[in-house]
Amino acid sequence: MPDVTITVRPNGSLKVEGPFRLLDGAGQEIALPPDKPVISLCRCGHSQNKPFCDGSHRQINFQAP
Ligand code: FES
Repeated sequence: MPDVTITVRPNGSLKVEGPFRLLDGAGQEIALPPDKPVISLCRCGHSQNKPFCDGSHRQINFQAP
């Protein structure tokens, strides 16, 4: 069983669960919320808090291909 599970939410974010590290394009670690075992990464490109989802996909009616 893998340690990390990534779930593609229909017309929404990527839900990431499990012990993992999140790195930016330069390889620097992005701090994760310490009290959240699950995070959501933006897939629509409209979050004001990238790389995390802020719910903006609902406002723009994001439709995944
Ligand atoms: S997927 Fe939620 S704000 Fe982009």
